[in-house]
Amino acid sequence: MRNFAKPAAFILVGIATSGLILLRGDGLPSATAQPLPAESSVEEPHPPEGQTYIGSKRCSACHFKEFTAWKKSKHAKEAWESVPAKYRTNAECLACHTTGFGRETGFKDLAATPNLVGASCESCHGAGSEHETICKTLTDKKQLTPEEEKQARDSIYRMQPHNVCATCHASRGHKEHPKYTK
Ligand code: HEC
Ligand code: HEC
Ligand code: HEC
Ligand code: HEC
Repeated sequence: MRNFAKPAAFILVGIATSGLILLRGDGLPSATAQPLPAESSVEEPHPPEGQTYIGSKRCSACHFKEFTAWKKSKHAKEAWESVPAKYRTNAECLACHTTGFGRETGFKDLAATPNLVGASCESCHGAGSEHETICKTLTDKKQLTPEEEKQARDSIYRMQPHNVCATCHASRGHKEHPKYTK
C-alpha cells in the first residue's frame, strides 16, 4: 500500500511546477512553492481545441531526442509494465497508468492503442493531432521563421494547465493509491 500524500513526493511535484512557471517566463514570482497554483497563473497560449490523441510514436517523428529520453523514464516503461496483468483492463488503474483513458480517442486497450500505454507524451502535453498537422506543413523548411516557430509551439501545451502532474501523483485531497495485489 502506498500513500502518495508523502510530503517528499508532494514537494517534488511542487518544485517541478514552479520550475515550469519560471521557464514560461510569465512574469510571476518563481518560488511560489504552491503544489497547486491558482488557475489564473497559467498564461500559456491556448492550443486548438478538440485535438485527438496520436500516440508517442508519431510524436517521435519530429521529437526524437525527447522520445528517447522519455523511453528510458519510468513514465514509459514502469508506468505500464509494473501494473500486474490482471489490472491492465481495470478502469480504476488505467486512468493513471495510460494516456487519455476515458477520452474518446485516448487509451482503449493494448491491442488498439499500443502507443498510449504508460504516461506518454500526451499525458503531459495534451492531445496533439492538430499540432502534428500544423507542423507537417513546416517539415521541409531548413529553418523556421520566428512566426512559424510560434505557430508550431502555440499549437500544443508546453505543459497542460491545472497541475497535470498532480492528477496522477497526488490526487487532490490526498487520496491514497488504490489497493492492489501482485
Ligand atoms: C511534424 C513534426 C511534429 C510532430 C509530429 C510533433 N511535433 Fe511537437 N513540435 C514541432 C515543431 C516544429 C515545434 C516547434 C519548436 C521546435 O522547433 O522544436 C514543436 C514544439 C513542440 C513542443 C513545445 C511547445 C512549446 O510551447 O514550446 C511540445 C511540447 C511538442 N512539440 C510536443 C509534441 C507532442 C507531444 C507530439 C505528439 C503528440 C508532437 N509534438 C508532434 C514539430 C512536431
Ligand atoms: C491517481 C492515479 C493512480 C491510480 C488510479 C493508480 N495508480 Fe498506480 N501509481 C500511480 C503513480 C503516480 C505511481 C508512481 C508513484 C511513484 O513512484 O512515486 C504508481 C505506481 C504503481 C505501481 C508501481 C509499484 C509501486 O508500488 O511502486 C504499481 C504496480 C501500480 N501503481 C499499480 C496500480 C494498480 C493495480 C492500480 C489500480 C488498482 C493503480 N496503480 C491505480 C498512480 C496511480
Ligand atoms: C511526465 C510529463 C511529460 C511527458 C510524459 C513528456 N513530457 Fe515533454 N515536457 C514535459 C515538461 C514538464 C516540459 C517542459 C520542460 C521545460 O519547460 O524546460 C517538456 C518539454 C517538451 C518539449 C519542448 C522542449 C523545448 O526545449 O522546447 C518537447 C518538444 C517535448 N516535451 C516533447 C515530448 C514528447 C515527444 C514526449 C513523448 C515522447 C514527451 N514530451 C513526454 C513533460 C513531459
Ligand atoms: C498519466 C499519469 C501521470 C502523469 C500526468 C504524470 N505522471 Fe509521473 N508517474 C506516473 C506513474 C504511473 C509513474 C510510476 C511508474 C512506476 O514506477 O511504476 C510515475 C513516475 C514518476 C516519477 C518517478 C518516481 C520514481 O520512483 O523514480 C517522477 C519523478 C514523476 N513521475 C514525476 C512527474 C512529474 C513532475 C509530472 C508532471 C510534469 C508527472 N510525473 C506526470 C504517472 C504520471
